[in-house]
Amino acid sequence: MKDADTLVEYGTAIDPRTMVTPPDVTELELEPGHPGLGDEGYVARRHELFRLCRKHRLERLGPPFVKYTAEETRIWREVSPKLDELHRKHACALYLRAKDDLAINQVEIPQLRTISERLGPVTQMHLVPAEGALPYRTFYEYIADRGFPVTQFLRHGSHPEFTPEPDMIHDCLGHVPPLIDRDYAELLVLIAKAAATTDKGDQVLALKRFSWFSIEFGLIEEHGETKVFGAGILSSTGEIPHSLFSKDATRRPFVTDTVITTDYDPSQMQKDFFVAPSLPFLRRELEGLVRRFGIPVL
Ligand SMILES: [Fe+2]
Repeated sequence: MKDADTLVEYGTAIDPRTMVTPPDVTELELEPGHPGLGDEGYVARRHELFRLCRKHRLERLGPPFVKYTAEETRIWREVSPKLDELHRKHACALYLRAKDDLAINQVEIPQLRTISERLGPVTQMHLVPAEGALPYRTFYEYIADRGFPVTQFLRHGSHPEFTPEPDMIHDCLGHVPPLIDRDYAELLVLIAKAAATTDKGDQVLALKRFSWFSIEFGLIEEHGETKVFGAGILSSTGEIPHSLFSKDATRRPFVTDTVITTDYDPSQMQKDFFVAPSLPFLRRELEGLVRRFGIPVL
């Protein structure tokens, strides 16, 4: 590990304290180049959902019922069948089982409240409405408490295949299904408890990378084949074939010490992928890391 005073993330030196005490973003910010920036109706809808979801998150009201617009439904109906076709070929068995169990369909955008009620009895997980991407430590504080933050807005309709930020499609078709699997839920909660407990910025960053290269952009071995495990890949029609077949990407065995020292750029197609031999392997590696860090959550 690098010295705690010289952390580098996304190629830039960062203050380790921001990993432990992240800023709270109180206003909607669409980054420069966001496809929805010039569309008044889209920006207004984003403000509306930002306020609604932030209120429900902070007041612990659970996911609000959202009446989705015709345009939002159109985007869902355009993207989800394309993803489903790729999932059937390339997603890991755990994900496919989970997606079928939750009956997430390609016609209607699911209501998070309904999914949350389905998860509870099986894995004691619930969904927390999120106004946007939450800072990493805040995000994991919710998960440590078995709540998974999920956005409720959709990407802009001009680029249905692309989103510069996590949206409903990323969350609902990437992250949410495997929350109904007990072993997956426990892996996620352990990462979260460790990240939410340590007061060392370098340890939070290491856990963030462990999570990035498994939960978010991980590949997994299954009966001699490499399958897609990570939500960031599963929710992108471009990343699925890229992660498995592109010559511009590397696919290396998941070695924890390499993973936690590998930086990445979340704004680009990924160039480094790690292949884990199994979910129990990830669990053992994570437990070893948490013990080595001396974080008292096991
Ligand atoms: Fe994600």
